[in-house]
Amino acid sequence: SKTINGFNEHFLWGGATAANQVEGAFDEDGKGLSTADMVPFIPKEKRGLGFAIDVNSQYIQDVLAEKTNDIYPKRFGINFYHTYKEDIALFAELGFKVFRLSINWSRIFPNGDDEQPNEAGLQFYENVFKELKKYNIEPLVTLSHYETPLGLTLKYNGWYNRKVIQYFTRYAETVFNRYKDYVKYWLTFNEINVITHSPYTGGGILIDQIPEKNSDQIAYQAVHHQFVASALATKLAHEIIPDAKVGCMLARMQTYPVTNHPDDIIKAQEQNDLNLFFTDVHAKGQYPDYMNRYFAENDIIVEKADGDDEILKNHPVDFISFSYYMSISVTTHGENDETAGNLVKGAVKNQYLESSDWGWQIDPKGLRVTLRDFYNRYGKPLFIVENGLGAYDHVEEDGSIHDHYRIDYLKKHIEQMKEAVKDGVDLMGYTAWGPIDLVSFSTSEMSKRYGFIYVDQDDYGNGTLKRSKKDSFSWYQNVIATNGEDL
Ligand code: BG6
Repeated sequence: SKTINGFNEHFLWGGATAANQVEGAFDEDGKGLSTADMVPFIPKEKRGLGFAIDVNSQYIQDVLAEKTNDIYPKRFGINFYHTYKEDIALFAELGFKVFRLSINWSRIFPNGDDEQPNEAGLQFYENVFKELKKYNIEPLVTLSHYETPLGLTLKYNGWYNRKVIQYFTRYAETVFNRYKDYVKYWLTFNEINVITHSPYTGGGILIDQIPEKNSDQIAYQAVHHQFVASALATKLAHEIIPDAKVGCMLARMQTYPVTNHPDDIIKAQEQNDLNLFFTDVHAKGQYPDYMNRYFAENDIIVEKADGDDEILKNHPVDFISFSYYMSISVTTHGENDETAGNLVKGAVKNQYLESSDWGWQIDPKGLRVTLRDFYNRYGKPLFIVENGLGAYDHVEEDGSIHDHYRIDYLKKHIEQMKEAVKDGVDLMGYTAWGPIDLVSFSTSEMSKRYGFIYVDQDDYGNGTLKRSKKDSFSWYQNVIATNGEDL
């Protein structure tokens, strides 16, 4: 279903969220604690430009004993748990064809290893899916979006332990059976690569509890368990929901060499490989050869069980999805500048690009590069499931919000998507990140806003929670109505 000149008629336009960043109600209706509930807000003056906050085991114990003075914004989110009807009505007004959300695993299995699911949690998402159906909005559901049940962290040390595979597949099977009539599009692990940068957030792992091992070793072992779990979930989805489409999800870090010195080219290639490793396994069903060298040189030994390779081989994903916010530049020459991008060690600033207020380098053409590379590498359909600009918004006296910077960012990225489609890329859809303002993943701020819809709440949880439309609201509405023709 490709067209040469524009987006196909079934193109899935919409927006993307995660349960822990919107729902709130962190202890209502039987929900257990999740890792996200233990991530504090850190004011700007106290943090660097690090991408994700990580915590250690002592900190978790202190939080549980209520010995900290921190606040935990992912516990209150934007109250979506209680406002989903009103919020979905606004998404329908925007013209959404698809809405990406995650199921908070700890609403369904409060401790992670429970024998039976929590019916109130299951009912909540059923209500949400019914509401979406009213407006013919397709749900795109992430099974795991930085929301490992805390019980799995405390009892098993998260994904480092192979046992977690079985708890995840129990959860996946439960929700596939329950929602088979409502949900066709599924993603297994959000930004699966982030676990190597942030083991707690990505995998519920407390690194300091395994002191004798290097953290890369721990993360890649956990990743292996997630790969197997992802393939088993893909298998189950196909068995239970005949028309299911399952995707993997990568935080794409398109990496450029700063100069044409061959050393820079190799360095950029290596960085890209380390990032694309995750989609390689999901799409091709096997570990790529280049990782053998990386593992050997970094003292990483990934333990596989008998049969793991067959599981990966037999259940590759149907499509590739990814988030795209920025590109990264690397060099073997000159000074490193850690303020540029921040997921890649040794990244430097790209002099041709502007940065967001959080130092992320804005690169619309990099999205075209990424789409072309992905498609040439895998030949599978692609889905951009996150893209957007985190920015400070100013509310005028009359309540209006003139977010022309956001419109400009999105417009330039959608233009490049169009170019990629003309290049022959098979693109299924686009869900802008945070169509309604939500709590930031990396900083737990509310003031890093992405939405078309403004939410009146500050970093500390004060505010009326009232929703209002920014200028970008009618702009995006028109983009969808014209299927991307009118930007
Ligand atoms: C991705 C995550 O990393 O980027 C989202 O999947 C996150 O959960 C988004 O919110 C934007 O990052 P941030 O830190 O600006 O919220």
